[in-house]
Amino acid sequence: MCGIIGYCGPRPAADILVEGLKRLEYRGYDSAGICVRSEDDLSIYKKKGKIADLKAYLPETIAGSTGIGHTRWATHGEVNDVNAHPHSSGDGSIAIVHNGIVENFTPLREKLEEDGYEFVTETDSEVIVHLVDSLYEGDLERAVKRAVLLLKGTYGLVVMHKNEPGVLVGARNGSPLVLGIGESEMFLASDVTAIIAHTKQVVYIEDGEVVCLTADGYRTSDLKDRPVDKTIDVISWELEEIEKEGFTHYMEKEILEQPESILRAMQGRIESEYATGHLGGLNMTRQELLQVERVKIIAAGTSFYAGMVGAYLLESLARIPASAELASELRYRNPIVERNTVYFAVSQSGETADTLYAMRELQRKGARVLGICNVVGSTIPRESDGGVYIHSGPEIAVASTKAFTSQLTAFYLFALMLARMRDMSIEKGAELIRYLEAIPHLIDEVIDRKESLIPLARKYHRAEDFLFLGRGINYPVALEGALKLKEISYIHAEGYSAAEIKHGPIALINEETPSVFLVPDDALREKVISNMKEVKARSGQVIAIAVDGDDEVASIADDVFFVPRAHELMYPYLMVVPLQLFAYYTALELGRNVDQPRNLAKSVTVE
Ligand code: F6R
Repeated sequence: MCGIIGYCGPRPAADILVEGLKRLEYRGYDSAGICVRSEDDLSIYKKKGKIADLKAYLPETIAGSTGIGHTRWATHGEVNDVNAHPHSSGDGSIAIVHNGIVENFTPLREKLEEDGYEFVTETDSEVIVHLVDSLYEGDLERAVKRAVLLLKGTYGLVVMHKNEPGVLVGARNGSPLVLGIGESEMFLASDVTAIIAHTKQVVYIEDGEVVCLTADGYRTSDLKDRPVDKTIDVISWELEEIEKEGFTHYMEKEILEQPESILRAMQGRIESEYATGHLGGLNMTRQELLQVERVKIIAAGTSFYAGMVGAYLLESLARIPASAELASELRYRNPIVERNTVYFAVSQSGETADTLYAMRELQRKGARVLGICNVVGSTIPRESDGGVYIHSGPEIAVASTKAFTSQLTAFYLFALMLARMRDMSIEKGAELIRYLEAIPHLIDEVIDRKESLIPLARKYHRAEDFLFLGRGINYPVALEGALKLKEISYIHAEGYSAAEIKHGPIALINEETPSVFLVPDDALREKVISNMKEVKARSGQVIAIAVDGDDEVASIADDVFFVPRAHELMYPYLMVVPLQLFAYYTALELGRNVDQPRNLAKSVTVE
């Protein structure tokens, strides 16, 4: 989704802005632009397309050491050069970049037009620059504060004025904004990846706050002009972690990193002596944990599927009723918050608007909401009542992979903890820990076999539709397999419970629609095999992900990929990795932009 970068300091701003925008590319965008204060004027350059297109359009040198930049992911108005940010006031004295949506932009625009302001774009963001202009009386910070008070909706924005050299003003409501503190230079960004090459010292700007910065300092205040004291956080990620390090794509790198990322999610969180999990950040006493009678999980996309697996684990291990629900749906159905229920908001980015707003709605009703997030310092973990960081490291590819398996790990540990406080014996707990600790090694084995998925991708990449079928704890994995394939290859794919196909989807089966069956050696194996036979009987092609040595499955399926044997609750890890790789290789066969698939954004900060 849209990205923001701002710079003031001694260095040429244009280079830093373009480099920052390049690092924000992974979020998804369709146009980009920068504005630099150059020779007492604001110079704006913006282009539809990729950063490379913008770069090609820029003059060789752009003087000026203060500027703002933006990658746009269109919401209002088509994708073209004019609608790209930055936007400027009619006389070119003010420039603005904005993330979010101005919900009341129509009445604001009408009023501004009545007052003689001319609009040149179709964007909602343009109203902000004219509003600031209409309220400017020689003090940019003050004008921004007055302007944002008139806005309904969400914003993360940065503004500059040609008459205030070296000054940037940022404001936030609902769209992330982080200040980076360098040596005699300052940065503003929507995401730390844009600035980590320059500084690790950051200040997270909160909703309702405004920051005014120059190269040498910054001031944070609220909309009533009261100073706000902020703490400086230090980013723990290293720059190398957001580099490709020799891989062709971030997605490939992130899939192959999973043995380590899962290990990181586990590290320091297992108490071997008591055979239980230890999640220090939950902010809940043992007594409070003991009183938990129900767990509800809210999330979107891949994180939702991880939540479905989590609910399954909580019920089967801890015998606690648990369910997962799409955050976007929960928010608008006036959810009932029950006593002794703990909620989890699961989000890789920690910024997904659907999940964040659902969390706030639940909190308003008195719920305790814990976060399971990856991005440290993002909004969901900051606003949640406690939670677990999964420590996957930066996930740059738009398609989520390593975050999924680390989210699962957080749920295994939480379920183990609750189970051990209830019925699970120390022996059973120790056994489960052994199975869990074996997972990184077993995923290594799956990864060692990855080459055998390439011929499958070659064979099936021309299919127009796919079904992904699993049962029990692997049903959400089938949904995730379908999501991975459709988002990066653009092949239509549906995930179903294998049991469900006879209730409708079997009508889709013919020789052109392959079905991917997940067949672990669990209690439902026989049932899944029957479903495979039903598909074969209708001339459907079957790709099975089965367990080493399962000759019966191999004899039915057209193609099979084997994973190592494991405890039946551990198969989601081993089944999802081949599905991620299959999607990746299929997208490569089709020549897709794997890391930045069309229309998608990494962090979805609008509803
Ligand atoms: C799929 C994908 C999305 C995200 C969803 C939620 O590969 O990346 O479906 O899972 O947008 O994002 P987070 O986890 O950041 O809340």
